[in-house]
Amino acid sequence: MKKNPFLHLGVIALSLLSSASFGQTGTLNISTDSKTTISKHIYGQFAEHLGRGIYGGFWVDKTLPVKKQDRIRLDIVDALKKIKIPNLRWPGGCFADEYHWRDGIGPATARPRMVNTNWGGVTEDNSFGTHEFLELCDLLGCEPYIAGNVGSGTVDEMSKWIEYLNSNSSSTVVQERKKNGHPAPYKVTFWGVGNESWGCGGNMTPEYYSDLFKRYASFAKDYPGAKLNKIASGPNADDYRWTEVCMKNISSGMMAGLSLHYYTIPTGNWGKKGSATNFDEKEYFSTMVNCLKMEELVTKHSAIMDKYDPDKKVALVVDEWGIWTDPEPGNWGVLYQQNSLRDALIAGTTLNIFNNHSDRVRMAALAQAINVLQALILTDKEKMVLTPTYHVFDMYKVHQDAKYLPIKLSVPDYEVDGKKIEAVNASASQDAAGKVHISLVNLDPHNTITITTNLSDIKWQTVSGQVLTSAKLTDINTFKDANKIHLNAFTGAKKDGDKLVVNLPAKSIVTLELK
Ligand code: AHR
Repeated sequence: MKKNPFLHLGVIALSLLSSASFGQTGTLNISTDSKTTISKHIYGQFAEHLGRGIYGGFWVDKTLPVKKQDRIRLDIVDALKKIKIPNLRWPGGCFADEYHWRDGIGPATARPRMVNTNWGGVTEDNSFGTHEFLELCDLLGCEPYIAGNVGSGTVDEMSKWIEYLNSNSSSTVVQERKKNGHPAPYKVTFWGVGNESWGCGGNMTPEYYSDLFKRYASFAKDYPGAKLNKIASGPNADDYRWTEVCMKNISSGMMAGLSLHYYTIPTGNWGKKGSATNFDEKEYFSTMVNCLKMEELVTKHSAIMDKYDPDKKVALVVDEWGIWTDPEPGNWGVLYQQNSLRDALIAGTTLNIFNNHSDRVRMAALAQAINVLQALILTDKEKMVLTPTYHVFDMYKVHQDAKYLPIKLSVPDYEVDGKKIEAVNASASQDAAGKVHISLVNLDPHNTITITTNLSDIKWQTVSGQVLTSAKLTDINTFKDANKIHLNAFTGAKKDGDKLVVNLPAKSIVTLELK
């Protein structure tokens, strides 16, 4: 029988009472009975050759008046280092399955040009290629996660790319890497075998893809110090059959991870997704319903994976997630969208879901880091803005590689037009120094909710924290008002005996530290 982590606490949930003499209340119980670590790789990022993600984002014109190394923008690097991004996925996305790595090595002036057919039909000059990407990862202090081309590339092409990157032999391809300025192997270990093979990556069936995966993976070799974690192109949202077929046909020895892509579309309609900045409460509510769908997706895909892989050797890698709205005017094909307090609530909620499923979800990537979809950073020439989503990743970095603490929540509903969602979601962890971190999101835009937390098997004396909120859900940071939404110290949490009482402001994200 599965042990209930809450029974040993002898905890009785004191539902909806005590703490506050006003307003809405709930309870949160936290157990320390866990052997799971929240992988830092849940906090990963994605940078595709799309719009101004790479060109005009990470990789800028030589003349742009910002600090650079080569053409890599260092103010962006510094900002991302601060939030400790653990990995960066590249070069796509859909772009990955039409990318030929040889086009992006050697002298920049001799590199061929291509048309980026997926994203705006722009000319790709290949000035940002393998060496530039790995230089960027080196500056960021993060792991590279490369998506190889299955859709339009050959087995030999992928196999040689890995050899070029990771081998130290005397083969011609390795000598070429050395000649191109990198004598030592790069030791790339995260490797995607195609992207969205059910769609832009080749419109395949799962049966066909899983056979192809085995073929490509067989020639994707390990080199000394660089054992590859091969990640299969996984399901689109709730395509559970895709997961079933891949898990049945591919052994856990061959596949370290299966990816999952799911985007939050505010209206639920891909044809008219909804604005990033102009939405009413009804649309906010439907956005959050669609965001919370991630819980169901992760639960159901994990259950299928459990059937074939009960020891959880294969990770569920949610390597594209986030809100996808209509682009800002004039940005068709480049997916540039603003980022509001609503986006921050989505980020906090989704990261709570991942933390709470960290036994299976061991890697993820927000789409995308700079100037694309739910970005961490927006730029306009030399100007740069940290989005509300960036601040959530800053708050949540304390959970990286910390011990996952199981939680049990009992909270009021947030209701619009007779439809309900739980108003609060949360996750908790304990770091190597024994400090406990609790992240709470209040999705209710009207009510402060008082949460009483039972922590009877945790010794702690003080509580401090940070909060992210703003007057309106539609509030954004702009190039004129870059700091409108920013982190503040949180003073709404108190120790009451061995309980913690938190007054969680409406539409807020709070991370607490107990020590
Ligand atoms: O992130 C934008 C696109 O969304 C990616 O290229 C693709 O994989 C997904 O459909």
